[in-house]
Amino acid sequence: MATAMALLRLAALAGAVALLLPGAAEARVLLSLDDFGAVGDGIANDTQAFVDAWEAACATGGNTYLNVPAGKSYQIWPVTLAGPCRGEIKLMISGNIIAPESPEEWEDGDQGRWLHFTGVGDLSLSGGGIVDGRGHQWWAGACEDENCTSYRQHEVAPMALHFEDCQDVSVKGLTLQNSQRQHLVFTRCYNVEANYLRVTSPEYSPGTAGVLVVSSTNVHIKDDLFSVGTLHWF
Ligand SMILES: *[C@@H]1O[C@H](CO)[C@@H](O)[C@H](O)[C@H]1NC(C)=O
Ligand SMILES: *[C@@H]1O[C@H](CO)[C@@H](O)[C@H](O)[C@H]1NC(C)=O
Repeated sequence: MATAMALLRLAALAGAVALLLPGAAEARVLLSLDDFGAVGDGIANDTQAFVDAWEAACATGGNTYLNVPAGKSYQIWPVTLAGPCRGEIKLMISGNIIAPESPEEWEDGDQGRWLHFTGVGDLSLSGGGIVDGRGHQWWAGACEDENCTSYRQHEVAPMALHFEDCQDVSVKGLTLQNSQRQHLVFTRCYNVEANYLRVTSPEYSPGTAGVLVVSSTNVHIKDDLFSVGTLHWF
């Protein structure tokens, strides 16, 4: 129902913009997570709304803006958002995207991942909002003793934002914080940038590297502020 309404709105908006800009090569489409039934109260499970919104955005040609509204917190369970998509997607994160806090919410198949984008091109993430892994329980689970003076090898903690087999992706102007492990990872990506990010986790958070780049080329990382854990595990 929500999806049908969003698609109607999408069609109406696309039509309206096409009328306003008859000479434009590509229509702009505006979608919001809330159109797909997301609640954004920090408690509800907004995963399915996020998946539905992504699928609608991915199926739309042209320029699609997918908005994560400001002033709200969307709790998202581990999820894979796959391409290829028909057009360019701008994921505008103005509000908060938060992870479930308990490692028990991760099933075997989700190991090592929270927000996982695969096979996508022409994707940008921006909007000034916050992506919060809420990794405290993951970090605590890695303590060897009661005071966390040493750490044992953990079961694989998730990477917060993971882009795999992607092209032309940019992540800009967001705060990434309290990741369960690395905050931002590019694997087998081409032509990506990570700019104007604020990446923070407490000093005692193990393995929370800022950015990890694996088998990727043409990667530009600049003007980011990193303040992450000083203890490492892999
Ligand atoms: C949240 O929703 C997703 C997608 O529907 C589902 O896979 C997950 O199990 C849900 N989590 C809980 C705790 O219900
Ligand atoms: C942990 O810290 C407390 C208070 O500083 C201390 O009494 C205790 O011996 C420490 N435990 C270990 C295992 O180091």
